[in-house]
Amino acid sequence: MAADPTTPPRHHLGVGLISVGWMGKLHSRAYQALPYVYPETGIRPRLVHAADTAADRVAYATDVLGYARGSGDYREVLADPEVDVVSICAPNMLHREIGVAAAEAAKPFWIEKPVGRTVEETAAVAAAANAAGLVTSIGFNYRHAPAVEHSRELVAQGALGRVTNVRAVFFASYAAEPKGALSWRFNRELAGSGALGDLLSHVVDLLQYVVGPVAEVTALTSTVYRERPLLPMGSATHFAVIEDGELGPVENEDYAAALVRFAGDAQGAGAVGTLEASRTIVGPQCGLGFELYGTDGSLAWNFERLNELRVCLGRGGPHQGYTTVLANPQLGDYARFQPGPGIAMGYDDLKVTEAKKFLVAVTGGERANCSVDDALSAAEVVAAAERSAADGSWQKVPAVPGTTAARRS
Ligand SMILES: NC(=O)c1ccc[n+]([C@@H]2O[C@H](COP(=O)([O-])OP(=O)(O)OC[C@H]3O[C@@H](n4cnc5c(N)ncnc54)[C@H](O)[C@@H]3O)[C@@H](O)[C@H]2O)c1
Repeated sequence: MAADPTTPPRHHLGVGLISVGWMGKLHSRAYQALPYVYPETGIRPRLVHAADTAADRVAYATDVLGYARGSGDYREVLADPEVDVVSICAPNMLHREIGVAAAEAAKPFWIEKPVGRTVEETAAVAAAANAAGLVTSIGFNYRHAPAVEHSRELVAQGALGRVTNVRAVFFASYAAEPKGALSWRFNRELAGSGALGDLLSHVVDLLQYVVGPVAEVTALTSTVYRERPLLPMGSATHFAVIEDGELGPVENEDYAAALVRFAGDAQGAGAVGTLEASRTIVGPQCGLGFELYGTDGSLAWNFERLNELRVCLGRGGPHQGYTTVLANPQLGDYARFQPGPGIAMGYDDLKVTEAKKFLVAVTGGERANCSVDDALSAAEVVAAAERSAADGSWQKVPAVPGTTAARRS
């Protein structure tokens, strides 16, 4: 029988998963949703092999998520010949080791941010992936929000005029409770920095995606709670609250603030701005947001109102000031998820778009994926902020070639 010309070519890809925590489960659901949301890609992921050091999480991967097999050692995932692509959702201290091992095994990988504890670790992962010529993807999921994609287009079209200044924050409350668990995130050996790597890295990626590369930074940090109750690895999430538990030290910062200069245009007129991140804030819950101000207009968006974009285009007229635009089929990939305007999309949907961008690039299509170069670029900004916070200086940020921002310019 002749092939149906309307049927796209099928790409059957075996998926390996390393670490079955919050992100590991979410990556799995994103692979499963991809064919429903993006059928024309012909991509058909198959969940093949999951690994975690916690046995109950391996059992969850095979019994509930539907992986064909599971193991306690991530090396078995990388050695599995039926695994074509790998999701690396381990805690930060394992990113360098596993990212480099995945590159050496020639498996394209989707790795969670911040890709390592330090810029040196991120650079090692990026170098290994680029030397192997691999497609990669990073868990900077907020890029894919339709309102963010639209903001990026408006900036690129010059609809705001010249962007002059920016305010951006990630105010998260996951550690606002003083008895919130001392997960791996609070340990320098396991996580590296605190709010800087965990939260400010998202802010930096978002702004570099929408506005352009950050060139210079000065920063300060503070730690609000110095001790928290201990939490064994793999036993709960960092949202857990533990009453009367044994206490251990918080080794990294709860709060960070930075002043930044973006790379300039030919006249040297780069935007300037303030970035802040907190994991102990009371009030905002998952408040990742930006305000962009230009000579001809402004934009404001916050993840807590994912489906709303506040827009002001033009300096005068009877409708001057902000208009709130609800997410609608003309913004980003919204139409893939909802048939009409004003029907809320959610966080998990952003991961489906992330999976699509990754696997489309893996199968030779458009390279819209966020890559190890983007992760390195964000890590350079975070490292510059850390150096500045230590001595109060202004720090230059090295430019990274190959990033989404560099490709656009
Ligand atoms: N993109 C985002 O919005 C986002 C959100 C949350 C977390 N993250 C990132 O995702 C990564 C994982 O975070 P999480 O919240 O899913 O963590 P988690 O604590 O929920 O899960 C971590 C898992 O890793 C497992 N693990 C520990 N050592 C292991 C090893 N040697 N081999 C295999 N598995 C091992 C643990 O048992 C646990 O199941 C981190 O890098 C984090 O920064 C990103």
